[in-house]
Amino acid sequence: MADLERVLASVDANLDASLQRLFALVRIPSISTDSAFAAECRRAGQWLADDLAGLGFAAQLNETPGHPIVTARSDFGASKRVMFYGHYDVQPVDPLDLWNTPPFEPALVTGADGKTRIVGRGTADDKGQVMTFVEACRAYLAVTGTLPVDVTFLLEGEEESGSINTPGFVAANRETLAADVALVCDTNMWDAETPAITVSLRGLVHDEIVVKCANRDLHSGYYGGAARNPLHVLSKIIADVHDETGRVTIPGFYDDVRETPDEVKAQWEGLGLTPEKFLGPIGLAVPSGEQGRSIMELTSARPTFEVNGMWGGYVGEGAKTVIPSIATAKISCRLVADQDPAHVREAVRAFIRTRIPVDCSVEFRGGEGNRAVAVNHDSPDLARAATALTEEWGKASVTIGGGGSIPIVGHFKKQLGQDTLLVGFSLDDDRIHSPNEKYDLTCFHKGIRSWVRILAALAG
Ligand code: BES
Ligand code: MN
Repeated sequence: MADLERVLASVDANLDASLQRLFALVRIPSISTDSAFAAECRRAGQWLADDLAGLGFAAQLNETPGHPIVTARSDFGASKRVMFYGHYDVQPVDPLDLWNTPPFEPALVTGADGKTRIVGRGTADDKGQVMTFVEACRAYLAVTGTLPVDVTFLLEGEEESGSINTPGFVAANRETLAADVALVCDTNMWDAETPAITVSLRGLVHDEIVVKCANRDLHSGYYGGAARNPLHVLSKIIADVHDETGRVTIPGFYDDVRETPDEVKAQWEGLGLTPEKFLGPIGLAVPSGEQGRSIMELTSARPTFEVNGMWGGYVGEGAKTVIPSIATAKISCRLVADQDPAHVREAVRAFIRTRIPVDCSVEFRGGEGNRAVAVNHDSPDLARAATALTEEWGKASVTIGGGGSIPIVGHFKKQLGQDTLLVGFSLDDDRIHSPNEKYDLTCFHKGIRSWVRILAALAG
């Protein structure tokens, strides 16, 4: 048998052990946004560093001002080196009461459709996906004692909280991270049968808007009618952000947004994604964004403005007749193409400032944000990966746009000169960031097998 076939057979024979290792990693509640879980984040990083060291990689846990970063390197003197990036941190689990099984007690659940799913926080985003690559390396090493290409790992613990410290780490470790191409496993398949390579990611800019009116909360009878209500002010501004066609009205918001080329639109149309297919499973029917654009365009090629949370005044049980003095909203914008996060943030802030009435003030508490990413479509490595995926899944792999963000990816080109290949095996219904997150067992198994084939294909 050829090496490749023997390695694939080893993946199949050891699937249960691979699954047990993923379970061990999922059991560590590495929630990066919540400082109460900092020790757990470290523990997840250490678990991965230990696992990779056990495979013979020169692995270490690197300190940052935030959660530690795992790096690991093989040194077989191969003619090519890849850098694999993933994240070991996970999203918070609230609301906890909506989980059918405890989030950090991973389990296999077989549904009425006969499909077996791995359930638990991080199974799909991103621990299960990271482990598809680790297990592929493990199988190669076990069978052949070597790897077809040398591998450098970069596994961070702050992706879900904006990768604040990771760009600095990448810039300061250019030599350790040097490679011919970056591989990332943190994106989706097209559907459960069709593998995909993601060729764009959206950028992101967050802001928090605080509107203040009176200098204290007021009795709504005594002052009502005379005193301005900041919740009204803020909600009116938010309502003005979109016009009746779903377009964002903020001047300058669409600067640097490019129209999707017709041939890309045609390819997307060929994929046949309808509003019914996309929105039906989440209980919706009609797209709410800019009219006249396809789901694929709306969710990957157009920028958005969203309110993520909005509060003020009394939200406890029963009624309280109050005019609050403060209203707050957390907003975020997904960015595309050449949009500059700072320019968009300033455009948003200017739009809001001009609408703040007399006697009111506004403050902003925002971060820096990150740009959208466009991957080189024509690279030979992308073609090699596409062929390997097609062989594994028995169905042609497609190229898609990703609606989410992976903040560090833009820095791979800028800091390390690396093109990135985004190959993931997650599905639309994996409920990432939601209760009952899952990863299909088939995605995990064939994901490992896919990486085996991609590693072989990249070696040429
Ligand atoms: N894996 C996702 C990003 C993703 C999801 C890409 C779906 C393509 C398709 C990633 O872990 C994520 O959720 N990122 C955050 C980043 C943010 C917190 C800075 C996001 O997109 O909200
Ligand atoms: Mn992720």
